[in-house]
Amino acid sequence: MNPLKHVAIIMDGNGRWGIKYKNSRNAGHRAGLNTVQRIINESINQKIKYLTLYAFSTENWKRPKKEINYLFKLLENFLVSRIDELHKQNIKLKIIGSKNFSLKLNKLINLAEKKTSKNDKLQINLAINYGSKTELIIAFKKMIKKKENINEKNFQKYLQTKNIPDPEILIRTGNTKRLSNFLLWQLAYTEIFFEKKLWPAFSKNDFKRVLNKFKKVKRNFGSI
Ligand code: IPE
Ligand code: IPE
Ligand code: MG
Repeated sequence: MNPLKHVAIIMDGNGRWGIKYKNSRNAGHRAGLNTVQRIINESINQKIKYLTLYAFSTENWKRPKKEINYLFKLLENFLVSRIDELHKQNIKLKIIGSKNFSLKLNKLINLAEKKTSKNDKLQINLAINYGSKTELIIAFKKMIKKKENINEKNFQKYLQTKNIPDPEILIRTGNTKRLSNFLLWQLAYTEIFFEKKLWPAFSKNDFKRVLNKFKKVKRNFGSI
């Protein structure tokens, strides 16, 4: 059985779900939060140590302002209303991505990260304004500035996922098979599961099915 520490998820399909059932993309984003809660709870059950959730990409700024505003409002509400609960669950919250948000959101993020920094049951890396290419370029620049030896081990220290093992599993919901600028370096040897269901419809059992499938995969890492 394969050991499992880190699951990464591209939570895709909110907009389509919202249009289909509520005639509103934003309603889909709201419904997606219930799935987030389900997956957090099941991750704890499964003793997963790291859960990385793609919430907003550097490319998502191309969306209509109304949708972007709604997404950030949801995020603010999430931080205000759920942080005590997450803390009680012994969860550590870390934001990955370029943190140049509104003053209010930056403050909320800093508070949430600080409050939960010592927790060690599960670490949630929430990717907001995250783009892997930007992450890699910043890392290269820093490494060159420090005149470090350029090798894999040193390079990892400059990524936002430093000290976090690479994900063993990537799940993308929403029936689309692409990475959309997510964790390009870290996914080099990850097992990838593309799921047909839209994120708000992704259930605990769907998640468990993926985990069980992963456990039986023969992981070669180039060997035989
Ligand atoms: C993913 O769902 C969530 C974000 C990118 C914020 P989408 O909003 O991309 O949903 P679809 O793909 O349009 O259905
Ligand atoms: C990827 O989903 C980003 C997130 C889930 C946050 P998108 O829906 O933005 O991806 P593309 O644009 O269809 O590739
Ligand atoms: Mg999408």
